[in-house]
Amino acid sequence: MASVEIRGLRKEFEGTVAVENLDLEVHDKEFVVLLGPSGCGKTTTLRCIAGLESPSDGEIRIGDRVVNDLEPKDRNIAMVFQSYALYPHMTVYQNLAFPLENRKMAEREIVSRVNKTARLLQIENLLGRKPAQLSGGQRQRVAVGRAIVREPEVFLMDEPLSNLDAKLRVYMRAELKRLQKDIGVTTIYVTHDQVEAMTMADRVAIMNKGVLQQVGTPAGIYSQPTNTFVAGFIGNPPTNFFDLVFVEDRCLENADFRYPLSEPLIARARGCSSTEVVLGVRPQDVLVSIGPSAPDAGIEAEVFTVEPLGDSTILDLKIGETRMKAVTSPDFRAEMGDRVWTRFRAERLYIFDKKTGSAVQ
Ligand SMILES: Nc1ncnc2c1ncn2[C@@H]1O[C@H](COP(=O)(O)OP(=O)(O)OP(=O)(O)O)[C@@H](O)[C@H]1O
Ligand SMILES: [Mg+2]
Repeated sequence: MASVEIRGLRKEFEGTVAVENLDLEVHDKEFVVLLGPSGCGKTTTLRCIAGLESPSDGEIRIGDRVVNDLEPKDRNIAMVFQSYALYPHMTVYQNLAFPLENRKMAEREIVSRVNKTARLLQIENLLGRKPAQLSGGQRQRVAVGRAIVREPEVFLMDEPLSNLDAKLRVYMRAELKRLQKDIGVTTIYVTHDQVEAMTMADRVAIMNKGVLQQVGTPAGIYSQPTNTFVAGFIGNPPTNFFDLVFVEDRCLENADFRYPLSEPLIARARGCSSTEVVLGVRPQDVLVSIGPSAPDAGIEAEVFTVEPLGDSTILDLKIGETRMKAVTSPDFRAEMGDRVWTRFRAERLYIFDKKTGSAVQ
């Protein structure tokens, strides 16, 4: 097993900078998810680690070796892609055995490793079938099996679940997470799905436009996003952002509402480079009531739409021209056009510097 260390990675394709100055350390046996929107450089990063792209700059280490100049086959990594092409004319057994035969491994060792892998993935009863005779989830397992049968030091996966339907994806993500812990192989997993990232990762590395934004545990990046991009990307429904002005050294306001800050938040608003501030409020931290809980507590809003989800209800609210979403209990009865009162959980608010987008702590 091995750690992976990336220092100052840069990859430029004729004029497009796909990855810029990326530093990332993945510990031995750790499961790190690279997360970000389409085109942010996730696959490029993974391909550089695998040796399928050569970096324009920077250093990649696997264990104690710098691997920049090593061929992919000498890096002791295995990769599973989104389009995990199995060999259609071969049985599952032959698909699993193929990478080992390629390495001229002894027949007895091959049989033992294929059987062990099949047991681990619970596909022993499928070994005689061809890929066309398998379900999507079973094919997916065979693709993973073909990667782990070589017992690589590092496992790289690029959106391996994206071809599966939603239900199977939820099932397979738990299976993969458990498998990764059982075999204890250092894993870097790419996805653009924040739920997949949050549920599977030991740590999440969030990228945007080729630049690493934040690395942290799922709970850490959720509760302490470093900038507006991360706060907007993680969490569902997305964080509400309000462009506000810091006035009278204690309030945030726009044309529609005025929000008096508590002491710790005043200190943060003072820390911004100007009076222009972005307030971030998660929909889960907007408290909604039918009437004001105290005479000066809360902001009056109009219910624009109601989205019942069964276990919760999302309210789309309007304060003048300002829109925001709030998550309420399904018991909360509100209809389009109703007037309600809203408060924010003060201890959970984020204040961002409007100029830089960075969180002010
Ligand atoms: N071989 C290439 N030649 C030129 N540009 C490339 C090449 N590969 C990737 N790019 C560009 O580099 C950027 C990053 O691409 P990359 O495939 O790493 O994104 P990604 O985060 O994996 O996106 P997705 O979620 O859509 O798979 C994009 O702008 C892409 O167009
Ligand atoms: Mg990609």
